[in-house]
Amino acid sequence: MTTQTVHDGRPGVRVDNVSKSFGANGSRVTVLDGVSLSIGMGEFVSVIGPSGCGKSTLLKVIAGLVEADEGSVTIDGTSVRSAADGKLIGLVPQSPALLPWRTVLDNVRLPLTVNRKANAGRAVRDPEELLASFGLGAAIHKYPGQLSGGMQQRAAIARAFVFDPSILVMDEPFSALDEMNRDQQRLGLLEFWNSNRKAVLFVTHSVPEAIMLSDRIIVMAAHPGRIAEVIDVGLPRPRTAETYDTAEFRDLERDVRAALHGVMEKAHV
Ligand SMILES: Nc1ncnc2c1ncn2[C@@H]1O[C@H](COP(=O)(O)OP(=O)(O)O)[C@@H](O)[C@H]1O
Ligand SMILES: [Mg+2]
Repeated sequence: MTTQTVHDGRPGVRVDNVSKSFGANGSRVTVLDGVSLSIGMGEFVSVIGPSGCGKSTLLKVIAGLVEADEGSVTIDGTSVRSAADGKLIGLVPQSPALLPWRTVLDNVRLPLTVNRKANAGRAVRDPEELLASFGLGAAIHKYPGQLSGGMQQRAAIARAFVFDPSILVMDEPFSALDEMNRDQQRLGLLEFWNSNRKAVLFVTHSVPEAIMLSDRIIVMAAHPGRIAEVIDVGLPRPRTAETYDTAEFRDLERDVRAALHGVMEKAHV
C-alpha cells in the first residue's frame, strides 16, 4: 500500500454560499444557510452533525438530486448538471439499494447496461475487477439476500466506482452495520480509496469514523443547517486499526466531540 497525495490541480468540489429551504410560504424552513466548502481532488472530507441539520440535503445538492435556492456548486469546474450527465459523481446511499433479483455482478453492471447508448465511449471500470478489489470476487454470482449487510454495502460502493467518478458522495453508508463490521468496512474503503483517490464527501454520525477516514471534518449545526466548525485531521496515512490507539487520535476525538457538544448546547438555548 502506498500513500500518495493527489492534488493534480483539478478544482474538485466547490460549494459556494449554498442555501436551501423547504416548505410553503409561512411554514418555510431553512435547511441549509450559506454553506461553503471545498474538497480538493483526492481529499476525503466528512460531514458530521445532529440529526436534521441538513447533511443529507447538502449531499443531495452536491450530487445534483436537489437544487439549491441560492449559491453555486461546481464539480471539477463544471456545473453539477453537466458533472452528473458526465457521470463524474458517484453516489453511495445509506442503504445499499441493490436489486434483490439480480446477482451482485449484475447489480454492479446495471449502470453500464441502462442507457447503453449514452454510455458508449465513456471510460468505465470492469465490474468483476471492482468487486474483486472489494473482496467480493467469490460472491459475484450470489444474490444480495445471500450476502451479509457489510458485503452488500461493499457491493454498493463498488457500483459507485463503475464510471470511475471524480467525486464520491456517501450518505452514512455504514450506519446499519454493527461496530465490528463497520470498522472492517471503513478500513476496506480506506485501502481502496488510497489507490483510487477521489474527492470524497462522507456523511456520518460516528466521531471515530469521521476521524479515521478524513482529511477534514466539517461539523454542522442545525436550525438552520450551517457549518459550525472545520477540523483538520493530520493523522498520517495509511491508517490502520492501530491508529485508533494513538494519542493523536484521542486528542482529535476530544476536539470533535467538543465541537459537537457546542453545536448541541446552542441548539437548546
Ligand atoms: N424534500 C424535503 N421536503 C421537506 N423537508 C425536507 C426535505 N428533505 C429534508 N427536509 C427537512 O430538512 C431537514 C434536514 O434534513 P436532512 O438533510 O435529511 O438532515 P440530516 O441528514 O442531517 O439528518 C429536516 O428537518 C428534514 O425534515
Ligand atoms: Mg441524513
